[in-house]
Amino acid sequence: MLSDVLSQLKTAEQGLFISFEGIDGAGKSTHIEALVAAFNAEHGADKVIHTREPGGTPLAEKLRQLILNDPMDALTESFLVFAARRDHLNQVIEPALARGDVVLCDRFTDATFAYQGGGRGFDLKTLSILERFTQQIRRLEPENAYNLDDLLIRQPDLTIWFDLPPEIAAERLAGARVPDKFEAQPVEFFRQVAAGYQHRMDENPARFAKINAHQSREAVWADVLAAVKSKGFLA
Ligand code: TMP
Repeated sequence: MLSDVLSQLKTAEQGLFISFEGIDGAGKSTHIEALVAAFNAEHGADKVIHTREPGGTPLAEKLRQLILNDPMDALTESFLVFAARRDHLNQVIEPALARGDVVLCDRFTDATFAYQGGGRGFDLKTLSILERFTQQIRRLEPENAYNLDDLLIRQPDLTIWFDLPPEIAAERLAGARVPDKFEAQPVEFFRQVAAGYQHRMDENPARFAKINAHQSREAVWADVLAAVKSKGFLA
């Protein structure tokens, strides 16, 4: 029964969802832009959505300003990133995937586990509960509406993690622009963020491609392209 439902969902959803992660200063932006260009060339620009979190909708962009600039406790911050994510999923990501489009998203929930969970040391179980509420796709058993174990959860098909030693990222960020709340954190915070990403990858090894971002730009790009092509997502 469950496998029938899952295979129906699989055939109904032809879209592709790729997320990009890494500590601040890891250098993901140029590679995301290059990948957007590669997908545009293969699928047509109208089938490719380039978006980001927190953000991607007018409401989520407003929440982004609060999240990046206002001091708040870690639970409040987690509620806000998941609220932004819920709106982003409803307004942009799910409709795009239902149309069969490609969604390239600069950060998704792994960032919450890395920053709020790893960096701020917030409770991972609470984040998992919020994740299940926020990213539910469809209830398998309507009568169990509040049984979180029965929810199908939206996750990226592939997550590209740009891994860079925090000391190097800090050098790259230094003086680049006025730092936001997260960018202003000490190196130790980013060590915890990186550990958070590693923990998340260990739990979902098939979804993650960990890229060594401490190489030349050309070498990083070659690794990014290889990761996407090895999944059959680009010819
Ligand atoms: P960006 O500068 O790469 O757009 O990322 C925005 C910042 O927000 C970055 O420092 C990471 C942080 N962030 C979180 O703390 N939690 C989240 O869930 C997300 C998506 C981002």
